[in-house]
Amino acid sequence: MIKLHDKYFKPFISSQEIDASIERMADAISKDLGDEVPVFVGILNGSFMLVSDFVKKYPKPCEVTFIKLASYEGVKSTEDIQRLIGLTQDLTGRTVVILEDIIDTGNTLAEIHRIFSNEQVKSLKIATLFYKPDAYKKDFKLHYIGIEIPDKFIVGYGLDYDQLGRNLPAVYQIKETQHMTNLVLFGPPGAGKGTQATFLKEKYNLVHISTGDVFRFNIKNKTALGMLAKSFMDKGELVPDQVTIDMLNAEVEKNADAKGFIFDGFPRTNAQADALDKLMDSKDSSISAMIALEVDDDVLVNRLLERGKTSGRPDDADESVIRNRITEYYNKTAILKDFYSAQNKYFGVDGVGSIKDITTRLSSVIDNL
Ligand code: IMP
Ligand code: MG
Repeated sequence: MIKLHDKYFKPFISSQEIDASIERMADAISKDLGDEVPVFVGILNGSFMLVSDFVKKYPKPCEVTFIKLASYEGVKSTEDIQRLIGLTQDLTGRTVVILEDIIDTGNTLAEIHRIFSNEQVKSLKIATLFYKPDAYKKDFKLHYIGIEIPDKFIVGYGLDYDQLGRNLPAVYQIKETQHMTNLVLFGPPGAGKGTQATFLKEKYNLVHISTGDVFRFNIKNKTALGMLAKSFMDKGELVPDQVTIDMLNAEVEKNADAKGFIFDGFPRTNAQADALDKLMDSKDSSISAMIALEVDDDVLVNRLLERGKTSGRPDDADESVIRNRITEYYNKTAILKDFYSAQNKYFGVDGVGSIKDITTRLSSVIDNL
């Protein structure tokens, strides 16, 4: 991954693929033009790298020149009027092949056609390395296309984001989701996940997704998923994976612009952790860290019984239900420590002490990510 100005980009097209594509274009063009000596016209700035590599692969004599399209200075109209700079050569009767780095909407191409309509060229062919068919709004024929790409912003190989990135030998695609801090907050019931999540979401501007809260909201509103989840929770059991994953996906999508998420109460199984990795991947993101609050069993039981007096949560009222939940937690979820350790993303934090001290301990882990 690379960062240019404020945006992140991920590897998209390798220099080998670009090279192979240019080779194919050069072959196709030289076959079509036969003995004609073409004038290749690169459109600056973006096409400088393409033109350089292209003409080296062109197997026959050819001429090369560059032009640049520039907006008229001081003119600010709805229609951007452009003029051509650098066309000093007489192209009368010549076969001209435009070499474009990328064709997006086709606006630039329309300008090229307009400007070349005054030249008495023999023929005008358009060759572009990259082409975004979903963005193209014109009818001009594109004679040679290197690589068709989706309608997403790319950089590298001559293409820039606000002037940066032109020098990259490969092409990178913008990450739709920008850099996020995604935390899995882990710990047995009563470890203080909810309390700490409240502080962390403020401090780091994250969205807190507590599976428990999502379930309780659904239960309170008697949704179908809520009623299903309730039958498991009342017994102190975990809700089946698919129900949880579906709910979570919806929560993440509701907050597509978030700086990151705190997952609390999720994942609890390897399958869920895998599903969460896939979900994050589909959002061009990933889990940054799993932070586990470590608290002794007896401390947990006391905390939960205390909370049960005021929270009204039925699963906080009964010591045997509480101990069942704690046992269940260790039986089923300790394996997640291995899952995240294997990715170097596991961080254990002492969960006993004042709320503030624990927040400080958590922050130092996050700040060092
Ligand atoms: P057009 O929309 O086809 O006229 O493309 C206009 C110009 O926008 C191109 O010549 C590029 O300079 C620039 N452009 C279009 N798409 C991209 C992209 O994905 N990355 C970088 N520049 C782009
Ligand atoms: Mg261009």
